[in-house]
Amino acid sequence: MAKLRILTFPDPRLRKVASPVTKFDKSLEKLVSDMLQTMYEGGGIGLAASQVNVHKRVIVIDISEDKGDPMIFINPEFKILNDKSLLSCKEGCLSVPGIEEEITRPDNIYLTWQDIHGNIYEETPSGLLTVCIQHEIDHLEGKLMVDYLSPLKRDRIRKKANK
Ligand code: NI
Repeated sequence: MAKLRILTFPDPRLRKVASPVTKFDKSLEKLVSDMLQTMYEGGGIGLAASQVNVHKRVIVIDISEDKGDPMIFINPEFKILNDKSLLSCKEGCLSVPGIEEEITRPDNIYLTWQDIHGNIYEETPSGLLTVCIQHEIDHLEGKLMVDYLSPLKRDRIRKKANK
């Protein structure tokens, strides 16, 4: 395992759209284990490959208290089942260090993904996982949590980051 360098806002590489994983091979396994180590050492609960400058649709998440329950999502996709059902959470991001902001997202979604071997799964997640997976899928689309904030707030964060 190796710790990877995390890109931080406003690095333009965070805006690239990631492409689907088509090969479920050893290099995917290595990427996932490196991403897990990077997430754990950074103290995060989720990491998208885009954040380590690998523009593939790969996400790792661990929302367990003892950090012993790594979840891996390859090519994740979601559909909103009820856009009136919303959840607000204070979100942070390893690519926007030192910032925590409340963001509102739909909390009733249908999620599909593949595991590291290419097997397909589906679930209607709940609570923190719903928020976390949407935050990470945003990264794969080149979208960041700062995009949900007011332009004024976003500019303030950008200025602070450029210092
Ligand atoms: Ni993030």
